[in-house]
Amino acid sequence: MAKNNDQDQFKKVLSHAKEYGYVFQSSEIYDGLSAVYDYGQNGVELKKNIREYWWQAMTQLNQDIVGIDTAIFMHPTVWKASGHVDAFNDPLIDNKDSKKRYRADVLVEDYCEKHLQKANKEIAKAAKRFGEDFDAKMYAETNPRVMGYMKKATEPTARLAQLLEAEDLEGVKALIEELEIADPDTGSKNWTDVRQFNLMFGTKIGASADTATDLFLRPETAQGIFVNFLNVQKSGRMKIPFGIAQTGKAFRNEIVARQFIFRQREFEQMEMQYFVKPGTELKWFEIWKEKRMAWHRSLGMGDENYRFHDHEKMAHYANAATDIEFDFPFGFKELEGIHSRTDFDLKAHEEHSGKKLQFFDHEDNKSYVPYVLETSIGLDRMFLAVFSNSLVDEKLDGGGERTVLKLPAVLAPVKAAILPLLKKDGLPEIANEIVDELKWSMNVAYEEKDSIGKRYARHDLNGTPYCVTIDHDTKEDHAVTVRDRDTMTQERVAIKDLKSYLESRVSMSEWLRKI
Ligand code: GAP
Repeated sequence: MAKNNDQDQFKKVLSHAKEYGYVFQSSEIYDGLSAVYDYGQNGVELKKNIREYWWQAMTQLNQDIVGIDTAIFMHPTVWKASGHVDAFNDPLIDNKDSKKRYRADVLVEDYCEKHLQKANKEIAKAAKRFGEDFDAKMYAETNPRVMGYMKKATEPTARLAQLLEAEDLEGVKALIEELEIADPDTGSKNWTDVRQFNLMFGTKIGASADTATDLFLRPETAQGIFVNFLNVQKSGRMKIPFGIAQTGKAFRNEIVARQFIFRQREFEQMEMQYFVKPGTELKWFEIWKEKRMAWHRSLGMGDENYRFHDHEKMAHYANAATDIEFDFPFGFKELEGIHSRTDFDLKAHEEHSGKKLQFFDHEDNKSYVPYVLETSIGLDRMFLAVFSNSLVDEKLDGGGERTVLKLPAVLAPVKAAILPLLKKDGLPEIANEIVDELKWSMNVAYEEKDSIGKRYARHDLNGTPYCVTIDHDTKEDHAVTVRDRDTMTQERVAIKDLKSYLESRVSMSEWLRKI
């Protein structure tokens, strides 16, 4: 399957997600709400399974990690302490002619990406021309045209980073003008000044307008963990190092809302804060990098689709940071962030609340504010990674083609389709008995409509990993045919063994063992 910047593949992902009940535009009958999505009958199952796979890996496989579930509403000072009130901003710019709003940094990044694509195209063309002995690296370093594109692909990002760090918004506008960046929709270069725009959604709590308090919808779940650090540590008698995990909704008023569920205004995060002794944080940073990558790899979506992107420039409170990037249909992009956040958050909450958030270390006989390792992944982004990677067009051996949704079996919404070959001769009765037996341990679907071939094809498209067919022989041999979605091979399995046969292939505990 073609991947990088494959617009066609991305369009297919969007329409497949809708057609098969995975993702719908929110409020679609009212023409939708930008960057807000609903999950359909299959989507909710896939999402729940991803969340559960993460949750069990965190809280069940690690004796030193517990979970919590904190409220979306938090005291407004939380967001002052965390720095979100003052610094959770994106630089935005409006086009005066089209009245469209863009993120200034994204305009520059897109400019760079476009030139990187041009360079890659030139290199690919040359590779075709020169054949096997072609040295791509040497060509990129010596061919003037490629070098020109590469310069345009890298220099502006570095300049942008400097300007943003210096909070030089005039400089950012000047850069956009110098690069002659135009409104992607209209081509107009008539830009306003660049302004900072806070991404938090405000709301109010209280009975009347004059007594109401201003609140924010949380832009990350992490702060609920920080402010409960001591509650959990004391009530759970936790010893450092230990972790607290949480999944839940977060809200950001994203200016650039595109790429489907990749960047939404309402989304879900799965975050874990690991509290460690100061001075040991870089060791734990490396450990958590590896642990998180192992979790991703266990799903079998291709090791080549993941890479680390270490941050050179870090937020002032972090002393190490990396992203796990995934090869989405629009290229490698951040899927998960892993940060060594020092004691920044707990210290800030100590200062703003006046309460101590410290751990008494009996070995050292002293109290300290722990350092924190954070792993933070967007559930919706993981959903998109899984879904887009699984949607495959295949050429079949005997000719013909098929489209199949090769979801990791552990995440698939329906684990097995139970299909009587015919709607008669007692076959539906046997099929229903099988459903009644399996439904206690997995999601199964009963279907009797259409030919067996059509039903197989429908379940391939739906992502169901196994189809179980009950035929006339079943009455004699008490066995069924199990068809594997990915290999399309069929195996005869005794009904008495069917549950364990399927469980060993789809159950979460079996997959968790692969981590
Ligand atoms: N507590 C740290 C934190 O929130 P972040 O890099 O801003 O860090 C973490 O977000 C993860 O949340 C990202 O790696 C991404 O997967 C997901 N995420 C962030 N913004 C998102 C959005 N607007 N829509 C969907 N997922 C988002």
